[in-house]
Amino acid sequence: MIKIVILGSAAGGGLPQWNCGCDNCLTARREPGLRASQASIAISGDGEHWFLINASPDLRQQIVDTPVLHPRALRHSPIAGVILTNGEVDAVTGLLSLREGSPFTLYAHQRVQEILRANSIFNALNPEKVTRIAIETSVAFEPTLPDGSGSGLLIEPFIAPGKTTLYLEGVAENDEGDTLGLRITRNGKVLVFLAACAAVTPEAADRLAGADLVFFDGTLWRDDELIALGLGQKTGQRMGHIAMDVAMPALADLGIGRKVFLHINNSNPAWRRDAPERLQAEQAGWIIPADGMEMTL
Ligand code: MLT
Ligand code: MN
Ligand code: ZN
Repeated sequence: MIKIVILGSAAGGGLPQWNCGCDNCLTARREPGLRASQASIAISGDGEHWFLINASPDLRQQIVDTPVLHPRALRHSPIAGVILTNGEVDAVTGLLSLREGSPFTLYAHQRVQEILRANSIFNALNPEKVTRIAIETSVAFEPTLPDGSGSGLLIEPFIAPGKTTLYLEGVAENDEGDTLGLRITRNGKVLVFLAACAAVTPEAADRLAGADLVFFDGTLWRDDELIALGLGQKTGQRMGHIAMDVAMPALADLGIGRKVFLHINNSNPAWRRDAPERLQAEQAGWIIPADGMEMTL
């Protein structure tokens, strides 16, 4: 069994985003039910020890809102580790909310480990308490529990079609460790986490095929969405994110059990329960999740 809690489902900025007056953000300010925090999920093989996939800027509140992540002793945390799939602000900032001295293991590709090492603010994570482990593509690993025993989760990172971290554009070349997908297995069940993905390449399709549950990049509904809404100049492709209207047909025939969009930008019309895009996504078998949603595999 794999237990999953969706801690946050929105892309960077969340819904509403602090400086945005788009229709979705205006509505989310009026209607708390539409609000969403920045993307992260927690997974567990035993229901006791949990691993976060990415650490969003909203992590502190996400932990407050998630009872299974609460301490069970005077000083304690069920969070045994954090697995990073990229070095973007919305994936790593939450690490700074885990600095109060509870031990955990931090798994990330060497590229992302180097970003963290180069940013001295992350030295707030005491190296005696937080072990940093470099993970490699196509090399499966089993995250460990605080006593050193195995978690029962086998995780194989793979290259996600993407690009270098936004704040390093022009500084660092694109490299294959910049964005990872994760194929997670336990007792024959397969979960694929691919919440940043620029294209469904044959390699990506191969990793997704037959999975029981997929978390997939839901940043934009259509590639030119930000431009059409007057919110920005970049296409989804330029940002390293495939649009939902391209992803849905691409994943339709891969034999996937449940499909969940994650990292949904505040501009995306699929947020709105009354939008035709939402209906279209749901009719194609996709879930637009709310924060706190629990799933079992
Ligand atoms: C992204 O997903 O493309 C990044 O999080 C962008 C950002 O940091 O604003
Ligand atoms: Mn992002
Ligand atoms: Zn907005």
